[in-house]
Amino acid sequence: MTDDTTVRPDSGPGAPVLAATGVVKRFPGVVALDDVDVDLRAGEVHTLLGENGAGKSTLASVLCGAYQPEVGTVFRHGRPVELRSPRDGLAHGIAMVHQHFRLVERFTVSENVVLGDPQLGRWLARGAIDDRVASVAETFGLPVDPRARIHDLSVGQRQRVEIVKALYRGADVLLLDDPTADLTPQETEALFVTVRAMTAAGKSVVFISHKLGEVVEISDRVTVMRGGVVTGQVARVDADRHELARLMVGRDIDLDAQQFAAGSPGSPCLIAKGVTVRDGEQTALDAIDLEVRAGEIVGVAGVSGNGQRELADVLAGVLAPTSGVVEVNGQPIRSARAARAAGVAYVPEERLGTGLAPSLTIGENLLLTRRRGALVSRSAARRDAREIIARFEVKAPGPDARCRVLSGGNAQKVLVARELAGDGQAPKVVVASAPTRGLDVGAIEQVRALLDDARRNGAGVLLISEDLDEVLAMADRIVVLYRGRISLEADRASADRGAIGRAMAGIA
Ligand SMILES: Nc1ncnc2c1ncn2[C@@H]1O[C@H](COP(=O)(O)OP(=O)(O)O)[C@@H](O)[C@H]1O
Ligand SMILES: [Mg+2]
Repeated sequence: MTDDTTVRPDSGPGAPVLAATGVVKRFPGVVALDDVDVDLRAGEVHTLLGENGAGKSTLASVLCGAYQPEVGTVFRHGRPVELRSPRDGLAHGIAMVHQHFRLVERFTVSENVVLGDPQLGRWLARGAIDDRVASVAETFGLPVDPRARIHDLSVGQRQRVEIVKALYRGADVLLLDDPTADLTPQETEALFVTVRAMTAAGKSVVFISHKLGEVVEISDRVTVMRGGVVTGQVARVDADRHELARLMVGRDIDLDAQQFAAGSPGSPCLIAKGVTVRDGEQTALDAIDLEVRAGEIVGVAGVSGNGQRELADVLAGVLAPTSGVVEVNGQPIRSARAARAAGVAYVPEERLGTGLAPSLTIGENLLLTRRRGALVSRSAARRDAREIIARFEVKAPGPDARCRVLSGGNAQKVLVARELAGDGQAPKVVVASAPTRGLDVGAIEQVRALLDDARRNGAGVLLISEDLDEVLAMADRIVVLYRGRISLEADRASADRGAIGRAMAGIA
């Protein structure tokens, strides 16, 4: 497709350092990028904004050489380039920092930085590499110890290592794929300091996100994507959150109707006493004491991987604790069946498998968890399935579609609908793990409204979420989970973002 003699008319001073035109990239059954144009200028932060599945990661992968587009051209400094691999990309000064890090756990920071590039390691003594790594890190405000081993580092520190690695190798275009997804608010702020240091040094940054607030804060320009096409491009000076949301979602979104009224809590309905979960050497949960009262939402904040999954599974009777007890309205919970019988609705982190049976149809999945006394026919289940498909705009061929074929977001809608809007019997306790993760904005509103309904109908709701804004908007009380322990407990009124963020990072 490319012609090495072609120079784009807009090349020359002030021209984009990196651009792509007419990019088409298909995966089986989906056009991930459909005739996309984008360009990046020297020293700018250019954000790709869009919901899950919009095509952001695919576009970044094309720009760094990880994917080759079927149609379209990538330009570096105005000249077409053919990037056949990330190594090619790097040779052109382009590097991507992936959402899921690719570091070797038992190696040190420095070892990871030079790994896979014999040129970098061969001529230098270990100490000299450490010094260079430290100096690159310091220049860009990335505090890391070159001699630390990766397995001892937090998520935020690992990300710094990935960025240092890119900078050390001479990248001047950095593609950051959803870099704030797993960061605490303080780590996000620190990352922004680094991003500004990089652009001040003349580097250019492609920043990928779906969080409107931070996008407006960090970007010079924003390209909004939806369903593989660019729906708009906005300079920061003109950026308006409502307009960005509209471009991202495709219709008007009420961004301000997000704060929910507090509940009026009754007596405790869900109690965990001294719950400990050990898995071999690891302690996933360490003597957790927790109470959720009827008519309140308790929000569990924290960076994922700090015991959230185990906590949810224990409370829903899916996982037996090593020690400690769980009670729902005075009944001990020792199995998923017992939890169901006691009126516990469960939205697990793992949608397919723990949540839905992949090989069964949507209708059959609705029947699976019917509580006793709620005998319903197959045809009624199909009717319910049709209703859920319409109400939640589930993209599915019909009620007889097997759940395995649903995308993550659509499976999630079916699951939440079954658990919260299910069989007419209101749940007494709701345990919801990341219930809005991976959903589009419209579905997020619906799910939050269902959780709020459950609270108002007197259910005790435990909302586990990495999205601190969500927790702050919904919860009556907030606990922070850090390394299997509750590191902070606060009322809605006294909840302080800074303190919560520090607790999320384990800083007392
Ligand atoms: N390796 C792949 N194989 C098949 N489909 C993919 C692959 N990567 C992405 N897709 C699909 O391409 C579309 C765009 O995905 P992606 O670029 O990851 O979106 P985003 O990063 O905006 O969430 C989605 O429909 C996704 O399911
Ligand atoms: Mg992505």
